[in-house]
Amino acid sequence: MSDLKAILHLPGQEPIELPIIKGTAGHDVIDIRTLGKTGYFTYDPGFLATASCRSSITFIDGEAGILEYRGYPIEQLAEKSDYLEVCYLLLNGELPNKKQFDDFHHTVLTHTMLHEQLVKLYSGFRRDSHPMALMVGVVGALSAFYHDSLDINNESHREIAAYRLISKMPTLAAMSYKYSLGQPFIYPDNSLSYAGNFLKMMFAVPCEEYIVNPVLERAMDKIFILHADHEQNASTSTVRLAGSSGANPFACIAAGIASLWGPAHGGANEACLDMLEEIGTVERIPEFVARAKDKDDPFRLMGFGHRVYKSHDPRATVMRKTCHDVLKDLNINDPLLDVAMELERIALEDPYFIEKKLYPNVDFYSGIVLRAIGIPSSMFTVIFAISRTIGWISHWKEMLDQPGQKIGRPRQLYTGKRNLDFQCVTDRCK
Ligand code: SDX
Repeated sequence: MSDLKAILHLPGQEPIELPIIKGTAGHDVIDIRTLGKTGYFTYDPGFLATASCRSSITFIDGEAGILEYRGYPIEQLAEKSDYLEVCYLLLNGELPNKKQFDDFHHTVLTHTMLHEQLVKLYSGFRRDSHPMALMVGVVGALSAFYHDSLDINNESHREIAAYRLISKMPTLAAMSYKYSLGQPFIYPDNSLSYAGNFLKMMFAVPCEEYIVNPVLERAMDKIFILHADHEQNASTSTVRLAGSSGANPFACIAAGIASLWGPAHGGANEACLDMLEEIGTVERIPEFVARAKDKDDPFRLMGFGHRVYKSHDPRATVMRKTCHDVLKDLNINDPLLDVAMELERIALEDPYFIEKKLYPNVDFYSGIVLRAIGIPSSMFTVIFAISRTIGWISHWKEMLDQPGQKIGRPRQLYTGKRNLDFQCVTDRCK
């Protein structure tokens, strides 16, 4: 807490002193927890200027285009680390030593399989269900299976729930894809890396040997790293709010998956690729840019803009390079990349986008990389959910570890009617 104060002058009241709390970086905050006694609430429907918690997990500077996990720049982690090491970092706050990492890796590997009863759950879905619909269902269903880790006030229960989620998400996701194809599920192969195991469960078939392509494996692992956490985004805030009531951790993560699915959030990567396919050719870009600028047209350029980043999304910069590397290594000439590159060039020169600080975000290039890997667009947000599970779990754990944690319960500005007298339908309809 600093000695700085904000002074609030309210009609008919003495000036109110509100403490200013300083963080280690980023915006300081005005502590308004006592404001309610004045008869006033603050009003911030989209949480544009509201801090919901204290956190030391991820730092974002939107103006400078900075993203750090536990203080480490995303560019360095994407280049030098791997997803499981980043999971350990996000969950525990420090990079692991060799023994810590080996123990963590072994624990994750020994929880990759699912209860066979859960496997039966898939058969209740239509084959043409969106895989995110399956993920909401089957991840939520995990809450019906692990009665040995239901006491969220027990640190070891929280830890085993975290490991199970990190381990099982790729298995659940790959099964959602295989189910849509009518192909048999592929069991995890613990001799492979996290990304390699996921690719094998996605693309292997029982009748042929599957060799993991190291270029795709590295690209997949990098995509997992880039999407792992992003402070208090919509889906992470959903998990925190659900967890604040003491709900089952698997049910909380299912709530996060539901929130991530929206096209304004994690669903943007699928929507972006669909948009690039709809644009189809470089010649049609101006038509879509005009629509994006038209106030009467709800169309938005998917993969552009961000609530926090107002200069550039550092993840998009890394993803752009990964995109070019993967397409070059695989000798793929994807016309959609030509459309994406030209759309990026035009948008970044257009006064509308410059004025509104709309830059390509992480979703702009991830769809092209995932398509190059052979993943259908319906699975893009599922990949995002696999990656973001460690972020959701780390924030859930941080919230429950904090003393004095309270249930999240926002207030409102009431604009409805008051004090009406009830009349029976016979009287109402005279
Ligand atoms: C993710 O929060 C996170 O950290 C999310 C995420 C994560 O890692 O968790 O980073 C992942 O969700 C990335 C964002 C993916 N979504 C998209 O790409 C969808 C397209 N983008 C937009 O829907 C929008 O930019 C948002 C939702 C991302 C941000 O919306 P804001 O901050 O609420 O901004 P806004 O909607 O108020 O827009 C400000 C202005 C508006 O114009 P005015 O009303 O001021 O005249 O910019 C315009 C908008 O119309 N605008 C766009 C635009 N995005 C904003 N115009 C055209 N195309 C766009 N993409």
